[in-house]
Amino acid sequence: MSSQEFSEKSLPSEQDTAHGTAVAENPFADPGLPPHKPRIQDLDERAAKRSERTVALLFTTSMLATVAFIASFVIFPVDKIVYVWPLGHVSATNLSLGLTLGIALFCIGAGAVHWARTLMSDEEVADDRHPIEAAPDVKAKVMADFAAGAEESALGRRKLIRNTMFGALAMVPLSGIVLLRELGPLPEKKLFHTSWAKGKQLINMNTMEPLRPEDVTVGSLTFAMPEGLSEEDHDFNTKIAKDALMIVRLQPEDIKDKRELEWSHQGIVAFSKICTHVGCPISLYEQQTHHVLCPCHQSTFDLSDGARVIFGPAGHALPQLRIGVNDKGNLEALGDFEEPVGPAFWERG
Ligand code: FES
Repeated sequence: MSSQEFSEKSLPSEQDTAHGTAVAENPFADPGLPPHKPRIQDLDERAAKRSERTVALLFTTSMLATVAFIASFVIFPVDKIVYVWPLGHVSATNLSLGLTLGIALFCIGAGAVHWARTLMSDEEVADDRHPIEAAPDVKAKVMADFAAGAEESALGRRKLIRNTMFGALAMVPLSGIVLLRELGPLPEKKLFHTSWAKGKQLINMNTMEPLRPEDVTVGSLTFAMPEGLSEEDHDFNTKIAKDALMIVRLQPEDIKDKRELEWSHQGIVAFSKICTHVGCPISLYEQQTHHVLCPCHQSTFDLSDGARVIFGPAGHALPQLRIGVNDKGNLEALGDFEEPVGPAFWERG
């Protein structure tokens, strides 16, 4: 650029001078808005096309990043670790999900900003204050302004931008949908069943030996689990959280509930040890009253009356397991629980 060109461009325009003169003459006068300076895109359609392509490229990159997000979620195993300088060892899944989602969101934002700065109208307008109540002509003006704004944004004219923007905005939420897979498989019928089944012997959790009726004395509280379950099993904690039993012996004449008596063996009754409030293991037995107490929130159940709730927040009685004796003289289950054990969704109102 020659020095002559530079000095000509640097000179204030006629309009600028008039504006400055008005301010100099009366410093308290409303200076109004400075004159609008057109951008290169306003003057040159080729520059506008370049900006349009840039915006479309950003929205398209966002779409590709969303596809990469979904692909990396499927491709990388959760436990895959990679070395990335300067971060060190990081989870491949976390890194790829973070990067791709970041790029997808950034490109939408950058595309919108570039669009607004280069292609949408940047002419400033002054709007005089008016009463809050909108008169019909004001409403009409709002609608006209809205239509003008829509026209200035060129949404209808620049179809490439419009379509890629809608595509990018529609695809980003897919990232959230695929993350639902992290909630794990559906429980299906697992919550309704335990390991108990007909013929499974009751194993004393203290001695790890099959329980015999003579091992259960009046006034004692014995804990049992199903045969075949071992503390070495990888899913032991999951299973025992549903299978654990409380065994007590009552005098048959003390049992008030008819079904409880039928499901017992000579006064020996087996109830789920899992509290029906929020699932704490019950461990306190009051032999005089036949009440068991949950230590978490003091729900109290009457074992002589179908383990119904007599105090506390638990919503329903402890499920009972039907028991008998097998030909070896050991206590055995005569089936699974007939209702889900523990708390939660089966809280039947
Ligand atoms: S968990 Fe038993 S009373 Fe709350």
